[in-house]
Amino acid sequence: MKEVLIIYYSQTGQLFDILQNIASTISSEKVNISYCEILPKKKFPFPWKKEEFYGAFPETFLQIPAALEAIPSKILNKKYDLIILGYTTWYLTPSIPINSFLKSEEAKRLLANTPVVTVSASRNMWIMAQEKVKKLLVANKAKLVGNIALVDRNLNHISVITIVHWLMGGKKTKMLGIFPKPGVSDKDIEAASRFGIPIKEALLQNQYSNLQQNLLDVGAVKVDPSLIATDIRGNVVFTKWASHLIKKEGEERKKWLVYFKYYLLFAIWLIAPIVFIVFLLTYVPMYRKIQRDKAYYSSVALKQD
Ligand SMILES: Cc1cc2nc3c(=O)[nH]c(=O)nc-3n(C[C@H](O)[C@H](O)[C@H](O)COP(=O)(O)O)c2cc1C
Repeated sequence: MKEVLIIYYSQTGQLFDILQNIASTISSEKVNISYCEILPKKKFPFPWKKEEFYGAFPETFLQIPAALEAIPSKILNKKYDLIILGYTTWYLTPSIPINSFLKSEEAKRLLANTPVVTVSASRNMWIMAQEKVKKLLVANKAKLVGNIALVDRNLNHISVITIVHWLMGGKKTKMLGIFPKPGVSDKDIEAASRFGIPIKEALLQNQYSNLQQNLLDVGAVKVDPSLIATDIRGNVVFTKWASHLIKKEGEERKKWLVYFKYYLLFAIWLIAPIVFIVFLLTYVPMYRKIQRDKAYYSSVALKQD
């Protein structure tokens, strides 16, 4: 019997639905699947109020762990053949609950010498968050063998508008009846079941070397090269903002978070389109690098820096 553990944190259940659909085709009489939800001691709100949403930025981006409920010993004391780690991106970084888990002693115990498949369901900016997850997995001596990254496939700016409607309003509905539904589409959530097939094959044969290629063949990751530069630049600027904001307390912090909110709007609506235009203008001379980057960010490899 092969033992699979699905570790996840999902506020709205979108990521959880995806994980369940993937599990539906891994499951068989030879495979036992268990779930472990990461539970922060202090719950994050949903729907989010503006202040709480922006207030989560410094600790998220600086990857400061928060206290978690203990993982049940029946899970902790078992050795798993495969772990599927489901996470969402917050501020170009793995969410606080998942980052906290990955920095815990429990993660070391569960993940050491264990093959891991990561599954993310973000708006569309997950690339550098995945690089951070790759590093944390190395620190836990886990072996990343597969990655599935699902996103909102609508235009970048449309997905910004609709995600705010969803995360602040609490409902995954069509804004004003005319915008597309936010987040990962129902069709993509349902079709995630196809990813379980190559995962099960690798698990039963204990042979993971081709798994990521097999996942890519069924569309597990689609790197949008125009977003790579935005994600990298975003990380540079966020580093400055986060290290400034973390030093502020009380009313000062509140005041600076308002400035950060305006900066974010400015970055999304003005800087991101400029980065996109530069991307288009330099597409031909940068073609080879873009192809190299696409291949790297679609892979489970980790660059040494
Ligand atoms: C505080 C916060 C920050 C987020 N930042 C990003 C981001 O940087 N990039 C991105 O693609 N999605 C971002 N998202 C969207 C999430 O990755 C995710 O798709 C959404 O919150 C739904 O996840 P759920 O399964 O937990 O309900 C953010 C969400 C929250 C709540």
